[in-house]
Amino acid sequence: MKENPIGIFDSGVGGLTVLKELTGLMPNENYLYFGDTARIPYGEKTTEQLTAYVRGILEWYKSQNVKAVVMACNTSSATVYESIKDDYNFPVFSLIEPTAEYISYVSAEKIGLLATTATVTSKAYTKAIRKISPSKEVYETACPGLVEIIESNKADTSEAKKLVIKYVVPLLQKGAEKIILGCTHYPFLGRMIQDVANDKEILIDPAKHLAEKVAETLMHSDLISDGEKGSVRFYASSNAPMFVEAGRSFYPDINEAMELEIGEVTKVIK
Ligand code: DGL
Repeated sequence: MKENPIGIFDSGVGGLTVLKELTGLMPNENYLYFGDTARIPYGEKTTEQLTAYVRGILEWYKSQNVKAVVMACNTSSATVYESIKDDYNFPVFSLIEPTAEYISYVSAEKIGLLATTATVTSKAYTKAIRKISPSKEVYETACPGLVEIIESNKADTSEAKKLVIKYVVPLLQKGAEKIILGCTHYPFLGRMIQDVANDKEILIDPAKHLAEKVAETLMHSDLISDGEKGSVRFYASSNAPMFVEAGRSFYPDINEAMELEIGEVTKVIK
């Protein structure tokens, strides 16, 4: 069981920001990374659609005998996680709870959130943060367009900068002292967001807190691999070369990805 792989998925390259944290903490694990590029952006889908996608992905991971699955996607963490988390015989991890827990130790009272439309509509971050820290204010901003820019490898363009200014400045005007990167794609724009905010300490990246949670849980369950060398296999549901190209700017070790279609699974598997 210890040597079984860890599944990690996102709608595309965003989850690589989580993979980087995981491989940093647990370099000897074998990871199976799936980017659902055929159905991106998740942030513009309904909870029903997302539930079907995620179930399909989890079924595939089950067939690969994973020991855990990491949702490296805030949108599915916000909309699907609660309803599926207990349905599998391996642990499934979400980005939101570890981040809310971390925020309870942060002195800032005004917290901004940049996320997808579906994540913002769910209000999952506000609920999770206020459950442990009722005095904190959370300002949620939906950022349509950013994911597409990152997937098409245009993170370093004036088009990206315009959107970043549009979404970040209103949060600063509201007095946000910290800004959560509430979509795993957004760390690709981390430097740009810091520059717009003129504050190098303003960002909270949930990836780091999720990775710590995964490592801690696997350690407590005695599930950390004893292997001497880890591996990562990459899969994308469409346009694998574009996935590799866009991913490389954040995860330089990515060199190839296999195409893998995962169909919609709607039945509930117990
Ligand atoms: N990277 C994902 C997230 O964290 C999904 C982005 C999308 O496909 O809209 O929300």
